[in-house]
Amino acid sequence: MSKPPGPKGAFFSAAATAFRRDQLGFYASCVREYGDVVATRMGPYRIWLVYHPDAIEELLVTRARDFVKSPGVRLLRPLLGDGLLLSEGDFWLRQRRLAQPAFHRQRVAGYGEVMAGFAARHVAGWANGAVVELHGEMMALTQAIVGKTLFDADVSGDAHEASEAAKVLAEDFGAKLASLRLLPAWVPTPSHLRARRAIRRLDAIVHRIIAARRASGEDRGDLLSMLVHAQDADDGTRMTARQLRDEVMTIFLAGHETTAVALSWTWYLLAQQPEVEARLDAELRTVLGGRAPAVADLPRLTYAGMVVAESLRLFPPAYGIGRQAVRSTELGGYPVAGKTIVIAPTWAVHRDGRWFDKPDEFRPERWADDLARRLPRFAYFPFGGGPRQCIGNAFALMEATLILAAVAQRVRLSLVPGQRITPTPYITLRPEPGLRMRVARR
Ligand code: HEM
Repeated sequence: MSKPPGPKGAFFSAAATAFRRDQLGFYASCVREYGDVVATRMGPYRIWLVYHPDAIEELLVTRARDFVKSPGVRLLRPLLGDGLLLSEGDFWLRQRRLAQPAFHRQRVAGYGEVMAGFAARHVAGWANGAVVELHGEMMALTQAIVGKTLFDADVSGDAHEASEAAKVLAEDFGAKLASLRLLPAWVPTPSHLRARRAIRRLDAIVHRIIAARRASGEDRGDLLSMLVHAQDADDGTRMTARQLRDEVMTIFLAGHETTAVALSWTWYLLAQQPEVEARLDAELRTVLGGRAPAVADLPRLTYAGMVVAESLRLFPPAYGIGRQAVRSTELGGYPVAGKTIVIAPTWAVHRDGRWFDKPDEFRPERWADDLARRLPRFAYFPFGGGPRQCIGNAFALMEATLILAAVAQRVRLSLVPGQRITPTPYITLRPEPGLRMRVARR
């Protein structure tokens, strides 16, 4: 066979319309109708969807060299520049190696105290019976944590400003992606100007973080110092101011919005499943006995870990991973032409009944007995895989588990009735229009 099956395409094709109307539903229906490798056309783009774990492994690992990031994610270039998420080739590899030491397991363990401490302090500000918008709360918390652990900066005063700007950019990205406007637009439309203003607001925060460190001249040995003081091994040059800005912006944004989204969905799921919540509560009592969680407790907080894993399965913040072929290659036994955009729709793969029993149910205990080891490697990949795998994987899992434990041991959160919350595929899978929850102190 030379070409995979798929919905017939043309600009106003059924595929483009379905994608525009309901991106997640489109991903889920294509695998049902056409199978593991799906080819379609949307506007000027040749788009493939790959669902089989083996084909995803080819895309992200074995044939990774045949692909670059997709035009969809490249829409983030005005915001993230040439930072780690978007850079390519030798340049990317050099920057990745530079940042890597800040994410080594031992280093990450050292961040645990800040993570649990900030979470406890944050939740202490919630009054019994109060209604909080949980997603905004999680954004503020994870932002403060990434600022403190990686940049030794206090960004607590910027939470509102940064969240507002991030929301504008998320919506702008979502609208462009849905309408397949993937090329950079120079025309100063109102939405474009709004996005530019939002980027300037975030720039101000990032520049302040960098300027404070430069002014102190100190080498604190954290990620920011590594980036500021890094020198090229060959010619001794330092990173340009623009590159430094791009790296800090990338880590600042990638390092908090994803984890905040993951936690938001976790609270949403827990609130609807009292038996899971009760089991989590029992574990927290047994393991912690009322004291604050610490990194040393993590090996015994197994159920909490499974709750996080299961939430990342059902609502993966990175709901799909996109690439574009830079040369002719092959996937799932089919020849792929250069320029083809290939998407691994994490959302749909994580809900595939071939890999997960009762795939739409929130059942943390499915992760017991090492399910992760029994699954094909790419049946579950919330952090991607291969060379471009999330650099913050261990950071995020530890942070999410510690925040879950620190918050759940102090309060119960219930959904304010009458809300319709929709997973919305912007840059990450946001709960829209937010998540209003009532606090009951334990
Ligand atoms: C639950 C939380 C998180 C999820 C679900 C997540 C997911 C991902 C995924 C799927 C990728 C790969 C994208 C691709 O292959 O195109 C990625 C890359 C990346 N993530 Fe995360 N991430 C999370 C947390 C974090 C944290 C905490 C940080 C930093 C503190 C971070 C920084 C990055 C960076 C810099 C990259 C680009 C890495 C590279 O290409 O070298 N992420 N993330």
